[in-house]
Amino acid sequence: MIHGPNLGLLGRREPETYGRRSLEEINAALEEVAAELGAELEILQTNHEGEILDWIETMGNRVDGFLVNPAALTHTSVALRDGLLAVDRPFVEVHLSNPKAREPFRHHSYLADVAHGVVFGFGSESYLLGLRGLCAHLHG
Ligand code: DQA
Repeated sequence: MIHGPNLGLLGRREPETYGRRSLEEINAALEEVAAELGAELEILQTNHEGEILDWIETMGNRVDGFLVNPAALTHTSVALRDGLLAVDRPFVEVHLSNPKAREPFRHHSYLADVAHGVVFGFGSESYLLGLRGLCAHLHG
């Protein structure tokens, strides 16, 4: 699970857009679903794009897939797209909000067309749906 920039502030950050659940609460809910599905989760949150790229490179041959909320990097990062493609693992892109219903600069994702799936607009539930979808794809 990769949480991109500013997601460490969830719960306090623009709660009308992103909800009141903290990152810790979302991670705990993800761990519960992972346990239910018999999956193991490794979780990263960082504000640094390069750290995400290093992590993908390191984890690429240790994990079966990635769940990613790239946050603002969704709309800016060719490097993140290339990094995920380089390790050749399926990934699911998730967002709390519905970026298509927001400012025009959020309408384009550099990842969506190479993602296995995308889940957005369901608040923290997007993560849980995304994890279920990824596991169903990997083991279904
Ligand atoms: C976000 C949507 C992005 O546009 C934004 O930059 C974020 C959060 C979401 O989860 O709704 O930081 O990825």
